[in-house]
Amino acid sequence: MRYLTIALSKGRLTDLSIDLLEGAGIDCTELKSTSRKLILTDEKNKIKFFLAKPSDVPTYVDYGAADIGIVGKDTLLEEGRNLYEVLNLGFGACKMVVAGPAELKGKLDKLNNKRVATKYPKIAREYFERKRQESIEVIKLNGSVELAPLVGLSEVIVDLVETGTTLRENGLVILDTIADISARLIVNRVSMKMESERINKIIDGLRRQLEQRSGKQ
Ligand code: PRP
Repeated sequence: MRYLTIALSKGRLTDLSIDLLEGAGIDCTELKSTSRKLILTDEKNKIKFFLAKPSDVPTYVDYGAADIGIVGKDTLLEEGRNLYEVLNLGFGACKMVVAGPAELKGKLDKLNNKRVATKYPKIAREYFERKRQESIEVIKLNGSVELAPLVGLSEVIVDLVETGTTLRENGLVILDTIADISARLIVNRVSMKMESERINKIIDGLRRQLEQRSGKQ
């Protein structure tokens, strides 16, 4: 039997992903160890795991280097790859929003040649072009996006909001919501056909685990 490979997102989603996989009966002991090994295994279930930068997870799954991946919907929207998104895992819940200074509330349409700072240039461009029929200047940043309107780099930002604290503490407000975001289970298209029995077993196990958890709330 060949190993199935699961790519996990490094960072905020890691522990929640491991917790859910364990709940579904997958042995994550090696994955939780602090070794520097890049590929970890569950020998009993013949599963290999690796951790990757979130934006690289869809790439590994698209090329079949991983059969399955766990990644945020934000990354899936931005990467736009041809994958099966099979399960909303619910955790890592937040929103993709347009945000800016409060004086722009209700005035988003009146701002010509908007500069939009974001870590998500594709999501930002598609939102402004498709939903608002506006072309914008996208300024790609790699973090602390909320800084951009404060220092005059952009009028607005497109970014994730979880608790809203970062916006609030910097005098910014949500101007529009683009999408609800949470972690998703993704599967390579070929793997889904070739390994359907094993992959469906994993999907069912995770789904049952999610149902149990939501029943307990
Ligand atoms: C994310 C996001 C916001 C912040 C939102 O950034 O880009 O900046 O979290 O969270 P809040 O609504 O709970 O305040 P992250 O912490 O990942 O760091 P980064 O800005 O450097 O990318």
